Amino acid sequence: MTAGSEYPVNQRPLPMVVPEPGLPERVTIYEVGARDGLQNESATIPVEVKEELVRRLLAAGLTTVEATSFVHPRWVPQLADAAELMTRLGDLGTHLPVLVPNERGLDRALELGLRHVAVFGSATETFAQRNLNRSYDEQFAMFEPTVTRALDAGLDVRAYVSMCFGDPWEGAVPIDQVVAAGRRLLDLGASELSLGDTIGTGTPGHVTALVRAFGDAGVGPDRLALHFHDTYGQALGNVQAGLRAGVTTYDASAGGLGGCPYAKSATGNLATEDLVWMLTGLGIEHGVDLDAVVATSTWVAGHLGRPSPSAVVRALGTPRLTPGRR
Ligand code: HMG
Ligand code: MG
Repeated sequence: MTAGSEYPVNQRPLPMVVPEPGLPERVTIYEVGARDGLQNESATIPVEVKEELVRRLLAAGLTTVEATSFVHPRWVPQLADAAELMTRLGDLGTHLPVLVPNERGLDRALELGLRHVAVFGSATETFAQRNLNRSYDEQFAMFEPTVTRALDAGLDVRAYVSMCFGDPWEGAVPIDQVVAAGRRLLDLGASELSLGDTIGTGTPGHVTALVRAFGDAGVGPDRLALHFHDTYGQALGNVQAGLRAGVTTYDASAGGLGGCPYAKSATGNLATEDLVWMLTGLGIEHGVDLDAVVATSTWVAGHLGRPSPSAVVRALGTPRLTPGRR
């Protein structure tokens, strides 16, 4: 039996594999639990627990594990130990992506020899101000030298754009406004653009329309990633729309950890386990050991003092009747 699961591995339920024609054969899961998840937790998580979390996620087959953020520690105190975490991870940490909002954050990442950074912009004026203390236009002025210097140093740069499907202060966010923000970030030289449904209000038709609009603007699905928060239970439906539109990178967090400290009503990300379950059923390769992630999320939930919101973790990872026994 895997630690954290009531089922012996060979007896627990598994989805039957029934592929849907036309979907990608393989998907990359970009794991954000250690960063997007832990940045929003009120509990103080010791750095050794974060280190073990990252190591366990990598061991579970997640190839891209975003580890932390080099933001101002006053803005996100939960990740104030970023340098210590990356130092403890040593060589393993070098290729893990970290968030950097500005040149100061980049300097801190460069000092540690890190090779992958991500800048994070907003499609809306209000969230740029609240999350970055910059106007919409000023955020690009902050990113421009950051990305240029990162690329000159040979780093890979991902860019996020937040509030792609709605903003808690501004309401609906027009699709062309999102495309304009995304294009500006890609034009700086980012290799991949992650479209954030920061508050989880997106629905599948909206995903289809947004990915198509990026295509019309010359940005194909191969340069996009989708980043869903599951606030309204729409995340998996939205992934399916993304798969049908040809997107092959999905952000997810182990156990559905997460949120954003500067966005009202942002809750956890799409849970990695829920995504893995659906991809497995669709016969799409993902390379992740579901039992190992469930065990990891159950262990983290113990540190946070509350159960995981993931449906799959709840079904597999919490005490329940052994099958066949009432
Ligand atoms: P600011 O207060 O405007 O900073 O914050 P500043 O540029 O005026 O500098 C003030 C002082 O902060 C200076 O120090 C700087 O050196 C220092 P002083 O000269 O006074 O001694 N400073 C820093 N120190 C450490 N690391 C740094 C740094 N930068 C400046 N990087 C800032 C501007 C961008 C720094 C701030 O607003 C910030 O840190 N924001 C981060 C907010 C955040 O992390 N939000 C969560 C991540 S986004 C998210 O979750 C959404 C996402 O998941 C996608 C989705 O769901 O949509 C990605
Ligand atoms: Mg997020």
